[in-house]
Amino acid sequence: MEILENKNKVDCLLANIRRKGHKVALIPTMGSIHKGHLSLIEKSKNLDLFSMVTIFVNPTQFNDLDDYKQYPRNKEKDIELLKKINCDLLFFPSTQNLYPNGIKISKTIFDYRDILCDKFRPGHFDGVTTVVKSLFDLIKPDCAFFGEKDFQQIKLIQKIVEKNKLPILIYPCNSVRMSNGMSFSSRYKNFSSSQEQIFDIVAKKIMNSILDLKKKIDVTILENLKKELEKFYIKKIDYLEFRNEINLLPTIENKNARLFVAFYIDEIRVIDNFILY
Ligand code: PAJ
Repeated sequence: MEILENKNKVDCLLANIRRKGHKVALIPTMGSIHKGHLSLIEKSKNLDLFSMVTIFVNPTQFNDLDDYKQYPRNKEKDIELLKKINCDLLFFPSTQNLYPNGIKISKTIFDYRDILCDKFRPGHFDGVTTVVKSLFDLIKPDCAFFGEKDFQQIKLIQKIVEKNKLPILIYPCNSVRMSNGMSFSSRYKNFSSSQEQIFDIVAKKIMNSILDLKKKIDVTILENLKKELEKFYIKKIDYLEFRNEINLLPTIENKNARLFVAFYIDEIRVIDNFILY
């Protein structure tokens, strides 16, 4: 695996790769690599693509400075994991590479807004779409891989491609889950053992509800789950909602439905979504 921090060297390497007729796949991450990230690289490698991971903890998508500071960072471990699965190139872009005109964000995508994470993390998606567009402009990949764990994020990224008519194929990838049924997330590396215990109990309650909801969506199941979480474990729930995965509109039909959840265990945010069909 090549490890580069210099954009000019990345350009030279990619030019060489493209000359040989290979397609370049981009897998953008904020590091603290886990099995979810690795699955995206595996999918790309299985398609015989030159698989390039970027690691950049993007300051503009954190609407809380403490959250940015506390975001887990594990450079050495990340390199080790990525080498092990034969990632082709790991690039650490600089702030200057991604924000050549200074740290500014712009709101360019107006679809799928004011709901779910956009409602509870104002500005977050402007930070995401700004940095992803910047990465697309910098690397000009043939395709890019994103996880369905961040479902609303993929929807907005697909809109970036559509709106700017970019020749980039977006591959949405299934969530990779832990034994408790929740998707892996870098943030969970900050859990203490007591927070982990709470997480497991909450996960069990969510999984039980999902078994019932898969039979038929029922708002009382959701209300009961919400009450249980609030009463016993969770102080802050951003949302627990059924939405149609195609248009992200609220739904009460199982067809194309997912349960979208976001809540906090102390200061650590959990987001996930579950297929209900
Ligand atoms: P990050 O949270 O590091 O995630 C990088 C990619 O991995 C995203 O596409 C995310 O959806 C995917 N991913 C995370 N957990 C996953 C899981 N359990 N299973 C499958 N895929 C998973 O998402 C971001 O970074 C940033 O917002 C980014 C797009 C890099 C822009 O800064």
